[in-house]
Amino acid sequence: MSADHASVVPSVTPPLWLLAELTYRCPLQCSYCSNPIDFHRYSQELDTQAWCDVLRQGRNLGAAQLGFSGGEPLIRKDLEVLVEEARRLGFYTNLITSGVGLDVKRVNALSAAGLDHIQISLQAADPDLASALAGSKKAHANKLAMARAVKDAGYPMVLNVVIHRQNIDQIGDIIALCDQLGADEVELANCQYYGWAFLNRRQLMPTRDQLKRAEDETRRWREHLQARGRDMTLHFVVPDYYEKQPKPCMGGWGSIFMTVAPDGAVLPCHSARDLPMDFPTVNDLALHDIWYQSDAFNRFRGTDWMPKRCQQCDQHSLDFGGCRCQAYLLTGDMTETDPVCELSPHHAELEVMVEEAQIITILEGGAIPRNTHTAKTQTANKDTKSS
Ligand code: FES
Repeated sequence: MSADHASVVPSVTPPLWLLAELTYRCPLQCSYCSNPIDFHRYSQELDTQAWCDVLRQGRNLGAAQLGFSGGEPLIRKDLEVLVEEARRLGFYTNLITSGVGLDVKRVNALSAAGLDHIQISLQAADPDLASALAGSKKAHANKLAMARAVKDAGYPMVLNVVIHRQNIDQIGDIIALCDQLGADEVELANCQYYGWAFLNRRQLMPTRDQLKRAEDETRRWREHLQARGRDMTLHFVVPDYYEKQPKPCMGGWGSIFMTVAPDGAVLPCHSARDLPMDFPTVNDLALHDIWYQSDAFNRFRGTDWMPKRCQQCDQHSLDFGGCRCQAYLLTGDMTETDPVCELSPHHAELEVMVEEAQIITILEGGAIPRNTHTAKTQTANKDTKSS
């Protein structure tokens, strides 16, 4: 930490990324979903015309990268129309999907509409575990078939696997499966604790030993792939809770990224609905005004909002004080330093949480699946507690 760094005056540049969360509906029930717990409250989705208008506004604002996600974006019957419009506007488009709802015909239709990139998620290598984690018996086989179909259509095969204590010991099998499928790129993304994952974190957080074994196994696989001349990139993302320095979340609040939620709410990150803030919607305001003028986007821009310890730290222009959602979920104060930072006064509490994860071996009840019924129950419980 160095003494007194001058506050950075935010000069607001246009967003690069627009994430279109087309729907919160999803056929799967993953207990680590980052959607809000009360997703059922936002069932009124923007229609096709409204989404086309959002895309046009986003492109005019300067965004060049567009992600279609959810929920499961394939549930939207108008996805091909939206992809075609995005292509016409000049976006680079990425579909982030479970693969459920995809078939060869639809892969070809999306390709014809101009989709640039597809990322498919897997839950595990073992079909029984994958079915249990997704809450669906058919999903795993369909995902494997669609990963192959995507590659047959000329796309690189990009797979994403959320890693947690229930599948981390299978990481070698998961990589072997991706290798066998012919994947080009695999993201082994350790679970981060937002939304449903925060609710279920005691069921999901790996132990330190599990994490080390998984990292070692991934390293061995990288060497093995290289020795075979096999070009499959493995990314291994460590869980924040095991870090000592916070990540520069979203590249800084309101710096490069904006999310439009299914109902049209505009958020600075996909988890912002965890925060006690009001967010403007595209039904009331233009994206341009939301990006440049709204309280929601200006609230944590720059450094003036930071606690003094962050303002005086020579890392603050690199990590932006860490993640606002994580700070709120762990401390109840969204203006606090992210407790992942070892200089945070709350870091010791996070360490206690991590230590607890080392000794819990069997948890009763299992993780809470993400579905409308559990969403209503959890929301009602929370409302009762806060009333
Ligand atoms: Fe919301 Fe980091 S996920 S600020």
